[in-house]
This record gives sequence, structure tokens and C-alpha cells, in this order.
Amino acid sequence: MRQRTDITQQAVESMTRELQEIQEFTIRIAQGAGKIICEHREEAELTSEFKRGTELVTNADLAADKYISDAIQQQYPGHLIVSEESSPDIGNIQKLKQPVWIVDPIDGTVNFAHGHNQSAVSIAFVNQHQVSVGVVFNPFTDEMFTAQKDGGAFLNGEAIQVAQESNLRRAIIATGFPYEKSNMEPMIRRVREVLNHCADIRRLGSAALDICWVAVGRLDGYYESLSVWDFAAARLIALEAGAKCGNFSEVPEEIDPQFYDQDLLITNEALYPQLLAVLHSAEGH
Ligand code: IPD
Ligand code: CA
Ligand code: CA
Repeated sequence: MRQRTDITQQAVESMTRELQEIQEFTIRIAQGAGKIICEHREEAELTSEFKRGTELVTNADLAADKYISDAIQQQYPGHLIVSEESSPDIGNIQKLKQPVWIVDPIDGTVNFAHGHNQSAVSIAFVNQHQVSVGVVFNPFTDEMFTAQKDGGAFLNGEAIQVAQESNLRRAIIATGFPYEKSNMEPMIRRVREVLNHCADIRRLGSAALDICWVAVGRLDGYYESLSVWDFAAARLIALEAGAKCGNFSEVPEEIDPQFYDQDLLITNEALYPQLLAVLHSAEGH
């Protein structure tokens, strides 16, 4: 029995060590990608085009994506990568047996291309179907948000926590608007309701940073529909900082909420039911 306990203990320790190594590697590649992004802006080498007619993508997005994907492939050849610019669709993440990396090389490309500093590299690592490491790095402010599952959340190495605001009327809520603008009505109804019930709204232009800003207490709440690379890392960071991470519409039974990209809602525990009720009232519930 004792021997078995020792083996289990050893397995836990080796897993923790492995995750620690993965996190250190992730931080290094986020910094490397950040350097590439900053250099593209400083050296005025920026070129851009529009994916699907509306989604801005620059040569910095592509260069950072390639750098991150190459680094992961070299270090962990058996792992899979979901990355916005080079491999956005590798099938159902939940069903993949191998470890998976979920990458947004620049979250906040419109900000980046217009000289705003609210942009970040976002990298999540999924092991045994669990988002286990999350790193979001803003190279313009040199802010590195990190989390390991069950290990707390950090900004530049200092532990962070969500804000303690419990009054929705005093709360600052962030959201975002989709590139595709064919069905604006429900979104406008939500903005109207939320604005009517909270102190103010922000549209800062980087979902990953919006969620990290909830984690660090600069924002009180956040809601939006996204793609998995926008939120996988930041959601873990928010959870580890004490946020409640859910959805304001029903998550289909077969989908793990860690990867469900529709109608995200992230706040502290006290504000969650209040904001949820407001968002539901916008749907006419
Ligand atoms: C976008 C940003 C934005 C959000 C959009 C995302 P991108 O990501 O996160 O804040 O509103 O839905 O697509 O295109 O800059 O990587
Ligand atoms: Ca994004
Ligand atoms: Ca992006």
C-alpha cells in the first residue's frame, strides 16, 4: 500500500514538473512572438489584408503564428496545434487524445494595426482534455498573465484576484462586437440592457486581455461570443483568479464548456447571477 502511495505521489510530482516546464516554455515563446510583433510595428514593415472580406490579418500575425507553431513542433513533435492563422480547424478538440496547443498569435489585431497597445499573444496548453496552462502576453505593456490549473493566476509573477464589486450598478463590463455584422439586433439589445444596469461598458478590442483584466480586477465582467483561441488561455487565468466562467446561453450537452465559444460570461461570483439575468432579459427570457 505504502509503495502504491509513493508511486502515485511520484506520478503527481513528475506531472507537476512537466507542467512547470511547459509553462516556462510557453512564457518563452510568448515573449519571442511578442518581440516579433513589436519589431513589425517599430520597423513599419506592416502589410495587411482582409480574411473573409472583414477580418484584418497582418504579416505580423502570420510571422508570430509561424514562430510559435515551429517552436512547439520542434519541442513537442507529438503534440497538436490549433492556431488561428495556420491551423484553425483540426477537428473536435475534446476528442483528441494527444496534448493540444491553442494559439492566437495576436489577439487584438485591429488595435495592433492601428497603433493601439491593447493586443496580446495567447497560448493555452491542453493535457488529458483539460486546459492546464494559460499564458497571455501583452508585449506593448510587458504584462505576462499566467496560470496553471489549480495553481493560481499571476501577472508578472504576482498573484492576482478578481475584483470584489458586488453591485452591478458600480460595475464596468467589457464586451466585443463581431466582424460579421449580418445579425446585429440581439447584440444591440444586450448592450442596451447591460448599459442600463451597470456603470459603463468598455470595448477594448482584445478578448484575451478583456478576460485577463477581469482576472486582475481592472474590469468587473465580460461577455461575448468568440473562437476558442481567443479565450482558452484567458479563461483558465480568470478561473484561477477566482472568476466564475460560464455562458449566458445553454451549453450543448456534448460540448465541454472549456471549449464552448458562444455567449461567454465571466465575472466574480457576486455579479454573475445579476449580469446573467440582465443578459437573459435582453433575449426576452
Ligand atoms: C478579436 C478580438 C476582439 C473580439 C473579436 C476577436 P483578433 O480577435 O479578441 O476583441 O471582439 O471577436 O475575433 O481577430 O484580434 O484575433
Ligand atoms: Ca483573437
Ligand atoms: Ca488573432
